[in-house]
Amino acid sequence: MLDTKVAKLINEQINKELYSAYLYLDFSIYYEEQGLDGFSNWYMIQAQEERDHAMLMLKYLQQNGVRATLDAVAKPDKVLGGLMDPLKFGFEHEQYVTSLINDIYAAAYDVRDFRTMQFLDWFVKEQLEEEKSADDMIKKMELFGNDSKGLYSLDAEYATRVYTAPSLTL
Ligand code: FEO
Repeated sequence: MLDTKVAKLINEQINKELYSAYLYLDFSIYYEEQGLDGFSNWYMIQAQEERDHAMLMLKYLQQNGVRATLDAVAKPDKVLGGLMDPLKFGFEHEQYVTSLINDIYAAAYDVRDFRTMQFLDWFVKEQLEEEKSADDMIKKMELFGNDSKGLYSLDAEYATRVYTAPSLTL
């Protein structure tokens, strides 16, 4: 049996991951509207990854005999007023998600729930990658985004991103 607090936090994380998917879908829509199909593609795939994260959390609860309860997903509330905005909001959001994963990890550690800690190890590593790629996008935009050729090249680079299923399976 999972500890009640650990189970509650994982259940809440399902909602947070679905919100992340919603947020990145909103970013994808914004960039598509701006004519940047590559940036739009990047965030569309990111939204798919976030949904995968939610599914992994859900499956983990089910494997442990816990019934997940789904709550309303909040509306994306970021006001996007420029091309840099989604990138900066995305980086801040990933830092926040890292703190949430760390909170679940700490709760699992407190009750010696080594199984959940092992499950979360994948997410800890994933957050490192997600923060790094968000930070890299900001840096590249600062370096190349003010020049139309640079922006075109960045957009072409992000257009090549393809979806891959998560390496963690349950
Ligand atoms: Fe599911 Fe971007 O963290």
